Amino acid sequence: MEKLTYILGNELAEAFAEAGYDPAGVVVKVSDRPDLCEFQSSAAMPLAKTAHKAPLAIAEDVKAACDRMGRSFEIEAVRPGFLNMTVKPEFLADYIARMAKDSKCGIPEAEEAKKIIVDYGGPNVAKPLHVGHLRAAVIGESIKRILRAVGHDVLGDVHLGDWGLQIGLIIAELRVRNPELPYFDENADTYPEEAPFTISELEEIYPFASAKSKTDEAFREEALKATSELQSGRKGYRALWQKIMEISTRDLKKNYERLDVHFDLWKGESDVQEYIPGLIADLEERGIAKTDQGALIVDVSEEGDKKEVPPCIIRKSDGAALYATTDIATIYERMKLYHPDKIVYVVDKRQAMHFVQVFRTVRKAGITDEGTELVHVGFGTMNGKDGKPFKTRDGGVMRLESLLNEIEEGMETKIRDNKNVREEDAKKTAEMVALSAVKYGDLSNQAAKDYVFDTEKFTSFEGNTGPYILYTIVRCKSILERAGISEEEALNYSFRTPSGEAEKALMLDLADFGPVVADAARELAPHRICAYIYRLSNSFNHFYHGTRILAEEDASQKNYYLALLALTEKVLLCGINLLGFSAPDHM
Ligand code: ARG
Repeated sequence: MEKLTYILGNELAEAFAEAGYDPAGVVVKVSDRPDLCEFQSSAAMPLAKTAHKAPLAIAEDVKAACDRMGRSFEIEAVRPGFLNMTVKPEFLADYIARMAKDSKCGIPEAEEAKKIIVDYGGPNVAKPLHVGHLRAAVIGESIKRILRAVGHDVLGDVHLGDWGLQIGLIIAELRVRNPELPYFDENADTYPEEAPFTISELEEIYPFASAKSKTDEAFREEALKATSELQSGRKGYRALWQKIMEISTRDLKKNYERLDVHFDLWKGESDVQEYIPGLIADLEERGIAKTDQGALIVDVSEEGDKKEVPPCIIRKSDGAALYATTDIATIYERMKLYHPDKIVYVVDKRQAMHFVQVFRTVRKAGITDEGTELVHVGFGTMNGKDGKPFKTRDGGVMRLESLLNEIEEGMETKIRDNKNVREEDAKKTAEMVALSAVKYGDLSNQAAKDYVFDTEKFTSFEGNTGPYILYTIVRCKSILERAGISEEEALNYSFRTPSGEAEKALMLDLADFGPVVADAARELAPHRICAYIYRLSNSFNHFYHGTRILAEEDASQKNYYLALLALTEKVLLCGINLLGFSAPDHM
């Protein structure tokens, strides 16, 4: 569906032509002074020079042309030459009626559909997910959904950290604890089906081994050796690694499922190791990489860098590949397998320099195409109320599971107290509302900013929160339920010309949904969707409080109200789906 501003822009351009002015640059925007008008255009301003006329005189000519032609808007010429516009209610009602029939709720298609990979999640195998992984998952999932909504072909990749020292640490520690296991016997050639640990054992082993490696030099050496033997293909270690992967991914999947986060690709760092030797040799041969104090580096500094960009190290002096090498190899593989137009990384902003180095290296090496876009959406830190990175009460790293449990429990109590939900639905409802609280609390902030995770604020049913949005949706649902019709049926009723301010404001907000989603997709900015659905919820609630919907005696007027309500519900549901959560029927 075309944007409302696009239709208005075309009509206004016709009036410019009719008045004898060049219509080429005419655009209409939503007003930034809603107290004065709904839409505005400054298209008369730049024409003053060529027309040898004051901008205000041009604007007045255009207004006169509009009046002669009959337009979908009222228009005024104001000093120094702006055009202030207000849409005619019948035009707006007609637009809204078309939106109600549109399967995409007015979301426009991107000008060019692209193949995009979103790299988000980035959990590390055998380590539990902690709150630091929450933002990557929540923001990445939303960006993926938004990009899909405007028609791009998107793949989400979890990009597991499954190849580093953490695996070597686990192997070394298991060897101390269970030296009799066949994985350590170099003559063994079959290994048991069953893993030699459970997920909770695995999660206990990693931090234990990691702490030990910091004080016990010999153990650290063992872990490094195990890592390198694993990487060079020692059979027993590969088999053990398989088991670690199996147990750990099963647990990760369960956790992401709970967050309503879904990846199309479960690839990881290990998948691209096979390309590394060839890539390194090639970079060295072509003189792109050079040796510096035993290490192999790519100089990626550029003229005009405001901050020093250190060289990208792709091989350490001991021969080991690094985090950057793996990311370079991953881009290589992605180009080979999927040929994306764009790769979006949703990763902590503290890794910004890493991505600058990696992106510059692949460009220099011609691994990507001329037009391939590489974008790092760096997010800030989730802090506690003390302004320091979010921790448990005793100062430890907060596991994601514990955080969700805590919030769900609090929400369940609240929901049971409200008594709007059947006893047997309380738990499920609490899960949905809790997820909205966590996700909306995160997404409503610009991703790059640090934010304070304030449980009390985020879980409130009032204010700019997920539960408030859900509450508004539930209100719509329950009115339709009481009217005895479905959303679909209500959307088939006829829209009328809005008679009051609140109705018109609601319609204008509804009409803005498509443009907002388009902006969010272009800017990779879920917070825009949050700001929008909050605005829409407010204007709906304003309308609701001033209108007797079910008590309306005129049947067709009542049906029109129900249609407006159903469209609001539909748009809000579509909005929260883009953010990655859903709404209960009651709460
Ligand atoms: N596993 C990494 C970490 O925990 C994050 C990976 C981010 N993605 C990437 N392609 N580098 O820091």
